[in-house]
Amino acid sequence: MELLKRKIIEEGIVLSDQVLKVDSFLNHQIDPLLMQEIGRTFANRFRESGITKIVTIESSGIAPAVMTALELGVSVIFARKRKSLTLQDDLYTEKVYSFTKKEESEVSISRKLLSPSDRVLLIDDFLANGEAALAMARIVENAGAEVAGIGIVIEKAFQNGGSKLRELGYDIESLARVTSLQSGSAVFAD
Ligand code: G4P
Repeated sequence: MELLKRKIIEEGIVLSDQVLKVDSFLNHQIDPLLMQEIGRTFANRFRESGITKIVTIESSGIAPAVMTALELGVSVIFARKRKSLTLQDDLYTEKVYSFTKKEESEVSISRKLLSPSDRVLLIDDFLANGEAALAMARIVENAGAEVAGIGIVIEKAFQNGGSKLRELGYDIESLARVTSLQSGSAVFAD
């Protein structure tokens, strides 16, 4: 997606050869016009996939997930990272190991929100080692529902999440595939 690549080139900050900071439009401040375009692009890609729900993880996946859901006319469920006062039992819970943060956390979704008839589109802001996407997929599959696609805003193609998920047979759309963050700038796959 050209607009997204332009934003990454103009506003992204390469923090190291592993980490790209995009706080000005995705991870802290949100650019609604860019998000609308992201939503339209994912929706067009998965319009024929019979999607009934979108699942993401709080917090940065929510904006692209909502814009996609608006286009597809479905609801968004965001997996919660912390147990809330109102979300305590009857949960699907999965562990997520973050290689970036070197820590394990848990994500949960209420059992009431997913049913075996659901065809789910997973959306996330970054794909690095694929741990977050795999945890979401396990939750959906534990509910007896199907992962009908995965939409990623920025895939770091030099980490192994993309190949892991593709080998498992998931239908993945990444809007920007970054192949390298060497020498202070992002290089794209195409
Ligand atoms: P993985 O799920 O693909 O294995 O990724 P990893 O554990 O490495 O990532 C943990 C968190 O860091 C996730 O966000 C992920 O989106 C984010 N992340 C990974 N690589 C980058 C990067 O190069 N740049 C930026 N900006 N983020 C990256 P999170 O902790 O869940 O944060 P949030 O959704 O609350 O913003």
